[in-house]
Amino acid sequence: MDLEIIPAGALRINLDERSYAIHVDHFADHSWCDGLELPVGTSAMVVTNDVVGGIYLQRLVERLTSRYPVVHFVELPDGEDHKDWKTLDLIFTALLSKGCDRKTVLYALGGGVVGDMTGFAAASYMRGIKFVQVPTTLLAQVDSSVGGKTAINHPLGKNMIGAFYQPQLVVCDLSTLKTLPKRELRSGLAEVIKYGPIADMEFMAWLESSVELVLDGDTDALAHCVRRSCEIKAEVVGQDETESGLRAILNFGHTFGHAIETGMGYGVWLHGEGVAAGMVMAAELSRRMGMVSSEFVARLTSLISRAGLPTRGPVIDAADNAGRYLELMRVDKKAEAGEIRFVVLDGPGKAVLRTAPDALVREVIDACCE
Ligand code: NAD
Ligand code: GLY
Repeated sequence: MDLEIIPAGALRINLDERSYAIHVDHFADHSWCDGLELPVGTSAMVVTNDVVGGIYLQRLVERLTSRYPVVHFVELPDGEDHKDWKTLDLIFTALLSKGCDRKTVLYALGGGVVGDMTGFAAASYMRGIKFVQVPTTLLAQVDSSVGGKTAINHPLGKNMIGAFYQPQLVVCDLSTLKTLPKRELRSGLAEVIKYGPIADMEFMAWLESSVELVLDGDTDALAHCVRRSCEIKAEVVGQDETESGLRAILNFGHTFGHAIETGMGYGVWLHGEGVAAGMVMAAELSRRMGMVSSEFVARLTSLISRAGLPTRGPVIDAADNAGRYLELMRVDKKAEAGEIRFVVLDGPGKAVLRTAPDALVREVIDACCE
């Protein structure tokens, strides 16, 4: 299949007065700082981590200096296992010690961990200040930087403490993906793959023809991946900003995936790896509920495998693996009165929320784990 490239230029997420632009392009050296309309403020603070900061921070601070009277920065420790209260507090300490006020603008420079924590800090510092997402991982560019979900983890559950809080602007600089480790690129691909089965089978077919190009870092293929993913996400979030219904489809594979991340210890399985194995489990659950064919489950599993992602979940508890998954999955934001609600496929390209009997879920876990 030919590449159908979505043209460059800003996408938009329509949320009334909270609407904003999503810019997806190759920007040499943070040149977007000069060209784009940025939120006005008394100061800016760049939040990053000690890995991304070493590569991109200095230049971004220099560029922003021409747009704000003063530019501060704070570097957090890297990793999912630092997505917690203690690390969040480093942002508040930096803001307070630098005398930042209600007109300070936060810039999240990094992957989903930095983005989710910066967004949460922006939502709560002085009851809310403006922030801009500058995602530097594929996962953050195709998913976490868009839509305003912000959070930290709790030892008992993933992303359980947070807020819906929209950024003012999202800038996806595709050139930052050149320094991203391959394992992280693959992890991001899981969230890209997700959009096909839940919303766009044409996109899934395109990915099936192009997944190796994406893995090789092909410029056009990556641009198409990010733009189409952001388009689908913006469309869904535009209809259901705070997940009263439709938005839950974006969590396809996540109920199982979050259980894997929490159960294994944050950072052992990357978020996208958990989602990848979780999508196979959710597809298999859909099949056992009579909603998709075994051919479709095999097709999705094959794409996930070609992306270099796990297609089987880990054993979290040797004594009662399915029981442990169920216990972890009950701590899920979609659960109601202790009843787990799964995103399942109602045919290829359409997702719905359903409950399922524990016995059936146990069968799926037993069939889908190592
Ligand atoms: P991450 O933020 O941990 O980044 C992955 C790794 O890549 C880190 O070590 C980071 O330092 C490094 N890195 C980032 N950019 C780099 C670059 N350009 N070059 C070199 N190294 C770079 O992980 P992630 O996969 O980006 O995000 C995962 C997080 O996102 C999870 O906490 C997940 O819960 C969250 N998430 C949130 C949403 C949402 O809607 N808010 C959606 C999906 C996932
Ligand atoms: N990543 C799921 C959502 O934004 O709703």
